Amino acid sequence: MTRPRPLQTAGRPAEGPLIELTDVRTHFATERGLVRAVDGVTLTIQRGRAVGLVGESGSGKTVLSRSIMGLLPRRGVVRSGSIRFEGTELIDAPRSTLRSLWGREMAMVFQDPMTSLNPLMRVGEQIAEPLRIHLGQSRAEARDTTIRLLTEVRIPSPAERLRQYPYELSGGMRQRVMIAIALACGPTALLADEPTTALDVTVQAQILALLSEERRERNMTLVLVTHDLGVVARHTDEVAVMYGGKVVERAPTAALFRRTRMPYTEALMRSIPTVDDPPHTRLAAIPGRPPDLVEPPPGCRFAARCAYARERCHAEEPSLVASSDDPDHHYACWYPVGTVEPVALRPADPAAVG
Ligand SMILES: Nc1ncnc2c1ncn2[C@@H]1O[C@H](COP(=O)(O)OP(=O)(O)OP(=O)(O)O)[C@@H](O)[C@H]1O
Ligand SMILES: [Mg+2]
Repeated sequence: MTRPRPLQTAGRPAEGPLIELTDVRTHFATERGLVRAVDGVTLTIQRGRAVGLVGESGSGKTVLSRSIMGLLPRRGVVRSGSIRFEGTELIDAPRSTLRSLWGREMAMVFQDPMTSLNPLMRVGEQIAEPLRIHLGQSRAEARDTTIRLLTEVRIPSPAERLRQYPYELSGGMRQRVMIAIALACGPTALLADEPTTALDVTVQAQILALLSEERRERNMTLVLVTHDLGVVARHTDEVAVMYGGKVVERAPTAALFRRTRMPYTEALMRSIPTVDDPPHTRLAAIPGRPPDLVEPPPGCRFAARCAYARERCHAEEPSLVASSDDPDHHYACWYPVGTVEPVALRPADPAAVG
């Protein structure tokens, strides 16, 4: 089969910064106080690259992705900093600016396909709609493109699938439909939020391979959100590790695995099962709890759970700085891995006992 040509890549530069985040904060007003879900993220995403966003549950991966898309609740959100997409400022941008970017410039695959597909609308209509709205395709053109997209995401018998409703599809098929919708208008950037978490490992591998292939063919920029460092190792060029609403380590993927600097990243890596583990081994969780995002601790947010933490870590917050021997490798840590001996966690600290 000859593969369809990219829809929207003509005349674009192949390299350079695409998404530039500067001190991005997204806080939610709640009864308990302000939840600092994203709390000062500075990060540049280069065109055509695959960037992994990793971290434990609650570290702010989804909120950061939704902040970039401008898909946040309308009420009770306090935002600051700068998010530039191809130079256009998105924080506090009018809805019309965001609308002009959705679909063609940036698209998102959501964490849960069942809540983001419309249960009352046939699959074909859900894919055709953005084609008609954003690309002005006629009904017949949109139908052809839809079939082509379903073929591209390897959905068998696409012409028959068009008439089905989401509940008639398996989890893997629904996720493929979500990806087809996201790819429909040939986005410059795709934000994929845990696109495979709910799926079994075989389907997971197929979907990730599909995303990587689409990215290469279209020179698409991919932000791949996951809690799985194994996925990151295989499918990304760079990684940003999030903890407590902040990026705590950022590096080219190979460098991150070769020389992990941040103790939190090291702890995440320990939780990857190896081929020697018996099947169904439970992942080693990191002891302790993530920080309270309403009243985060004063020093390093990981200090209470960190085997290397010293007094300074509990008192002073380290900022994200470039490593002296690798300017592309950034970490926020006073005592990076390999510089001090591990110590016993403070038993008096309630956060240290899980
Ligand atoms: N609308 C909201 N109102 C209040 N708090 C919120 C809201 N949305 C998210 N949060 C909080 O923000 C923090 C970050 O959430 P987020 O969903 O980004 O985590 P995540 O890294 O995507 O986790 P997971 O791996 O479980 O998907 C969490 O503490 C969450 O409870
Ligand atoms: Mg999430």
